[in-house]
Amino acid sequence: MQTVSVPLGERAYDVRIASGLLDRAAEYCLPLIPGKRALLVSDQTVYALYGQRLTEALTAAGVRVAAVTFPPGEASKSLATYEKILQAAAAVPLTGGDAFVALGGGVTGDLTGFAAATYHRGIRFMQVPTTLLAAVDSSVGGKTGVNLPAGKNLVGAFWQPRLVLCDPDLLQTLAPARYADGLAECLKYGVLWDEALFSQLEQGALFRVTEEQTARCVELKRDVVLLDERDGGQRQLLNLGHTIGHAIEQSSGYAVSHGAAVGLGMLLMARLFCPAIAGRLARALEANGLPTQLHLSLTQVAEALTQDKKRVGGEITLVVPQQIGQCELRKLPVAEVQNLLCSVEAKEEMA
Ligand code: GLY
Repeated sequence: MQTVSVPLGERAYDVRIASGLLDRAAEYCLPLIPGKRALLVSDQTVYALYGQRLTEALTAAGVRVAAVTFPPGEASKSLATYEKILQAAAAVPLTGGDAFVALGGGVTGDLTGFAAATYHRGIRFMQVPTTLLAAVDSSVGGKTGVNLPAGKNLVGAFWQPRLVLCDPDLLQTLAPARYADGLAECLKYGVLWDEALFSQLEQGALFRVTEEQTARCVELKRDVVLLDERDGGQRQLLNLGHTIGHAIEQSSGYAVSHGAAVGLGMLLMARLFCPAIAGRLARALEANGLPTQLHLSLTQVAEALTQDKKRVGGEITLVVPQQIGQCELRKLPVAEVQNLLCSVEAKEEMA
């Protein structure tokens, strides 16, 4: 078992990574649920695959488990689903010593965390990630929230889980493209801070990210969360590839998946600011089942950047690669970034 501790004082918790953990969940959850009641939150697909097993594991240890489910997909990350979860918690009723348990990917984890942060002004919750993306990124660090029609993650709170239990066996049922979405985040950690991790993954790791590599990604995220829990500075490095990636997702009408968009976003950043690594990065993305060609106009992507919620005034903070394993934050006028993107497109058209 790999264990990564997140020492955040009275909000400290462990991320445990081991094959078979789902059926042994009670061993780790029970001490954290003194009230012995839990609300399992999951989408319908994940619940059908793993809900019963987790319920049985907890019930056998004396925890009374209720469940609430919702349709899979980003559309469920809404105020309506959030209310449904709160109503289910009140029907149990969950109280102070009880817990929410998020079984699923990023949508489920973010929704459950936000419900836990606000129900009774905050009760405990645990994460059981079922996607690689949730295992290496969204289940750790305490960002929770829901979308509004006006944009993604516009309502939320920082609320740390009390435990993250990652059983890599659960990731084997993912579609290859969903697993690859998580690989984009793993490669991102390599580009940001760890050339050795990048070299391990660059030949292709579809369904083969090891427990040690998962733990390494979590450690890298943990380290930046410890420096900047509330996302005011260094944590923004985690946005590598995301600013342009979000613009790509949005201008494709969400036809380009999150991981694919982040990979393309990283590649564009490399081509614009660090061409020396662009070829290696493109080969790594290809080997990991991620696209390297954008079938969209960069002018359209540049246009979508004007709607980025992280822009402050006319400026945007980009994460700029300097070499594999080192990046920096750079504040630039949005108009300058848009011009750069349009110039890449113009160059390609002339070539
Ligand atoms: N997923 C980026 C962050 O947690 O800050």
